[in-house]
Amino acid sequence: METMVNNIAIEKAKTSKIHEVDFDNLSFGSVYTDHMLVCDYKNGEWEAPKIVPYQPITLDPSAKIFHYGQSIFEGMKAYKDDDGKVFLFRPLENFKRLNKSAERLAIPQLPESFFMDGLHALIQLESDWIPTNAGSSLYIRPFIFASGTGFHASPANEYKFIIACAPSGSYFSGKVKVLIEETYSRAANGGVGYAKAGGNYAGQFYPTKLAADKGYQQVIWTDDNAHEYIEEAGAMNVFVRINDTLMTAPTNDRILDGITRKSILDIAKDEGIKTEVRKISVHELVEAAKNGSLKEMFGAGTAAVVSPISGFGYHGEEYELPELKDSYASMLKKRITDIQYNRAEDKFGWRYPVE
Ligand code: PLP
Ligand code: COI
Repeated sequence: METMVNNIAIEKAKTSKIHEVDFDNLSFGSVYTDHMLVCDYKNGEWEAPKIVPYQPITLDPSAKIFHYGQSIFEGMKAYKDDDGKVFLFRPLENFKRLNKSAERLAIPQLPESFFMDGLHALIQLESDWIPTNAGSSLYIRPFIFASGTGFHASPANEYKFIIACAPSGSYFSGKVKVLIEETYSRAANGGVGYAKAGGNYAGQFYPTKLAADKGYQQVIWTDDNAHEYIEEAGAMNVFVRINDTLMTAPTNDRILDGITRKSILDIAKDEGIKTEVRKISVHELVEAAKNGSLKEMFGAGTAAVVSPISGFGYHGEEYELPELKDSYASMLKKRITDIQYNRAEDKFGWRYPVE
């Protein structure tokens, strides 16, 4: 039976899988809730989004997603506070970035109301799935891909926008050891690095596997020109603390404009920390590690939250970072998660209640 909630048609699942899930031992993004939002683009327009039971998708083998990788996604989270109230964090930023990615991948622009109303209705429906254990949340994956067919290398004429959700624990289990990349590149000037395009991640898997074989969890990407400046990590933007200054690379068309990154910059400024958004050379990083002024490095992203980096490898050498009692990473992580989980005042207006 179908019901309508805020213009979204809902077909409920006959049974729920929620009792099969071990909420005390959640990994990241590997079990999915009972429903998903689906919205089709056909005949030159996006059709009304609807919520249906979570289910596989059937596609023609000639669907362009398989051949030309026309696909983009977002990553967001829903949080539940101690009173059971549900919140999203800056969801409009994800919507805007999805359409920015869509433009670059020649995917039609999605109307804001389809994204926001659909997301709202889905999260409301799935609110029992939002975990409350420390460090857990409901990871939300909005994505669009080319379902239209044809071997002609041109944009598809049909697309699917889907939002799926996964109750999730931490993305990393401990501190992260990173390798500064000297050979491969994630993105190039004029390319798609700033878009959250599926292919950006596929292209990282092989160099990241080579790094993993050497004991590193992530690669720090450097500029494609001379591998001279650090840019970002596989699924996070990167912050560096030299003495008491917190710095991160400026965004450009090779770097994803992370929502966590800009929130961390605002919180750090609010804390009175000196921040610099500027190019950070590998040379400067190595020198700072050698002379002891490199105090911390951490990654920031929706999935990774704030993930401290234990050390980095570069040119066959290992550089360890000190263990700090009062690290910026732990203070910033506490401040951002206190806002996300409604444990602190939201002076920036970032929380979005789902009620
Ligand atoms: N950089 C890359 C390549 C990412 O995949 C992500 C994750 O979304 C980020 C940075 C962090 O972005 P955000 O904070 O918006 O999640
Ligand atoms: C996120 O942080 O939400 C991401 O999209 C990263 C993802 C590759 C796990």
